[in-house]
Amino acid sequence: MSDPTPDPRPRPAEAPPRDLLGRNPRDLRISVTDRCNFRCAYCMPAEVFGRDYAFLPRSQILRFEEIVRLAGIFVRLGVEKLRITGGEPTVRRDLPDLVRQLAVLDGVLDLTLTTNGSALRTLAAPLADAGLRRITVSLDSLDDAVFRAMSGADMPVARVLEGIAAARDAGLAPLKVNMVVRRGSNEESIIPMARWARDEDVILRYIEFMDVGTANGWRMDEVVPLAEIVARVDGAFPLEALPPNYPGEVATRFRYRDGTGEVGVIASVTAPFCGACTRARLSAEGELFTCLFAARGTDLRGPLRDGASDAELEALIRSVWGARDDRYSDLRSAGTANLPRVEMFAIGG
Ligand code: GTP
Ligand code: 5AD
Ligand code: SF4
Ligand code: SF4
Repeated sequence: MSDPTPDPRPRPAEAPPRDLLGRNPRDLRISVTDRCNFRCAYCMPAEVFGRDYAFLPRSQILRFEEIVRLAGIFVRLGVEKLRITGGEPTVRRDLPDLVRQLAVLDGVLDLTLTTNGSALRTLAAPLADAGLRRITVSLDSLDDAVFRAMSGADMPVARVLEGIAAARDAGLAPLKVNMVVRRGSNEESIIPMARWARDEDVILRYIEFMDVGTANGWRMDEVVPLAEIVARVDGAFPLEALPPNYPGEVATRFRYRDGTGEVGVIASVTAPFCGACTRARLSAEGELFTCLFAARGTDLRGPLRDGASDAELEALIRSVWGARDDRYSDLRSAGTANLPRVEMFAIGG
């Protein structure tokens, strides 16, 4: 029999993969470097990540074209939101070039970045010009001494505030600020941060200190729970609950009763949100992680550099996602807390 004439119509897209709990991938968090110019004690404590710590050599880090190719495959699998992370993503040279290439992928509805804000004074405008839509800045206090103590930063907090202003001027909106709350370190900054964010029209999200990685000496008694954060803020500026923007949103949202804006709490410890977790994570060296608390990832760089086709890479990603059953935060209290796991800075939170 002769070959049938090829059907010129595009092949109908296969259904997005579902994991063992019925969740499909919607967000891809792309770490572009494992390096950072800060040393937040809850993420990269300076005593562990000192001068001689061996970060990844350049050859092991995905090149921009490799990131874009993998991101394109994830987008074909149904991912709509891309978030660039690190380490600190802005220490990666030519970051706007990557943004420009990701921004034009067909099907990307949201393209954003999580940064410590230290480089935004100069980078906010080029990033926005390249097609970045919005931005999230990590900032744990407005008090210079507390800021420096928590972040190990070699710069005043004013630099980050100037970065946030530059992001606003560049049209990156809505602006979000993440504040990790750690008992004994920055509880006193909860209310000043709320006041500042209201005045600046910034969406502030308080984050419960999490047991990510194994280096940060996490202890439950240093977690300030959602209920306590909300009670404190509500005492100063009365709040009312808001519904989630989308299923599986990490932040529990509130608005101020006087109509001056929104605030959230990311309560992975006391109110876990694994049930609708649609986040995939790509590490700087090209490993796919299906959970922030995973012990291991799946190497995509090897097959990519060995010449795998897009169809082969897609099949690999589908099989990893199809076998996913992660729900670490839901299970945390069930005694999984001592398992080995990846460090936060390797997969960008
Ligand atoms: P929006 O799209 O702005 O809602 O952002 P997001 O909800 O993805 O928030 P962002 O990336 O800023 O995440 C904020 C923080 O929440 C991260 O830095 C982590 O600390 C935490 N977080 C995000 N995703 C997860 C997750 O899947 N599991 C857990 N346990 N924590 C997460
Ligand atoms: N607990 C909670 N949040 C953390 N982040 C980093 N480490 C932790 C932790 N142990 C947050 C940072 C930043 C984002 C990348 O992750 O503050 O907002
Ligand atoms: Fe750097 Fe962000 Fe980790 Fe702080 S939380 S050390 S700014 S990567
Ligand atoms: Fe998702 Fe893992 Fe976080 Fe649960 S703990 S929300 S499964 S990344």
